[in-house]
Amino acid sequence: MTRKPLISGNWKMNLNHFEAIQTVQKLHYLLPKDIFEQIDVSIHPPFTDIRSVQTLIDSEDLDLRVGAQHCHWEDSGAFTGEVAPVFLEKLNVEYVVVGHSERREIFGETDEMVNKKVAAIQQHGMTPIVCCGETLAEREAGETETKVLGQIEAALAGRSNEQIAVLVVAYEPIWAIGTGQTATADDAQSVCHAIRERVRDLTDDATADALRVQYGGSVKAGNAAELMGQPDIDGALVGGASLDPDEFARLIQFSVG
Ligand code: PGA
Repeated sequence: MTRKPLISGNWKMNLNHFEAIQTVQKLHYLLPKDIFEQIDVSIHPPFTDIRSVQTLIDSEDLDLRVGAQHCHWEDSGAFTGEVAPVFLEKLNVEYVVVGHSERREIFGETDEMVNKKVAAIQQHGMTPIVCCGETLAEREAGETETKVLGQIEAALAGRSNEQIAVLVVAYEPIWAIGTGQTATADDAQSVCHAIRERVRDLTDDATADALRVQYGGSVKAGNAAELMGQPDIDGALVGGASLDPDEFARLIQFSVG
């Protein structure tokens, strides 16, 4: 089963819309055109940048995909500060990150909220990137798989096999995010494999084999090839390294081997 890898640049709360345009233009310029036959690349800027990035991608017919970092699950209502999935759909957003550990830890996003968001994002024809990951204390206590598989089961509850087959899971050990520490390729592979096998138990072979599983946490140009070479790792969710177009372009090129 060949799964087309997906590299996603999660810019977090960085780069205003002027900087976003320059960064996307430069990134696209640096990437060989035919690379997009082998790999999908999504850019997840802050909400205030999305319209500018989308306009650039559409008007110049760039091969990059527009992404978002977060959304609510309702279509409208009294939810001050929130953004509805239907608004993102109107901006040609294709991928939405859900349940990033920063949303869970800083903003109190629960498994139940993640589950509602996954459903709402798919209802609007977009692809959720469902994040999971353990803290350092959980890893040291031997609870990595319990935590991660529990998050995935909760996120996918109520989804059909067809809906699960097309979504993306991002395994991001919390202790590796923004710290410069990366899980070893073997450790990352072992957790990504466990995720796929749990999905196999919950669904069937075709679904588990189609699911794309990303690794995230201090992925850089220098470690991308080894991580992407693992059989159950189908891409990366990249924070810091995606802000620099030179580094991100190298990372993407090393990911295709
Ligand atoms: P990082 O962030 O690459 O800076 O570690 C990854 C993420 O949080 O998605």
